[in-house]
Amino acid sequence: MEGAGLPGKDRMIRVTRKVEFSAAHFYHNPNFSADENRRVFGKCNNPHGHGHNYVLEVTIAGEPDPTTGMVLDLKELKDILETEVMERMDHRHLNYEVPELTGQIPTCENIAAVIWKLLEPKIKSGKLDRVRLYESPELFVDVNAGNGARA
Ligand code: NI
Repeated sequence: MEGAGLPGKDRMIRVTRKVEFSAAHFYHNPNFSADENRRVFGKCNNPHGHGHNYVLEVTIAGEPDPTTGMVLDLKELKDILETEVMERMDHRHLNYEVPELTGQIPTCENIAAVIWKLLEPKIKSGKLDRVRLYESPELFVDVNAGNGARA
């Protein structure tokens, strides 16, 4: 059974779980003038904000435990995503309600980086390999292991 059928020495398997959350944001840099903010961020600068239905894919890499056949306990991963992401961000205004984003423009890039930092220490079995955050079906951001995401 020793890695039978899997390629070479690399028996790493990647497991992905997907969750969706809705949140509001707007883009504003306090160091820019009002004109610069409008020019750089366009309609995303509207201080009343707008919403997105974000789709988050979290990938864990590891070797399946021979006794369970699993890289990690998927129920545990679900609970981690619930606590670290859903409770923090779902139906929130990202400019005001998520302390980890304080002082940052809540772009898809910055949100994905915050999610990486929140999840990485919680993954005890396997390693966080990728955080992919869709802001819309046409736009997503990846944070990968080795991207310098580990702060
Ligand atoms: Ni937006």
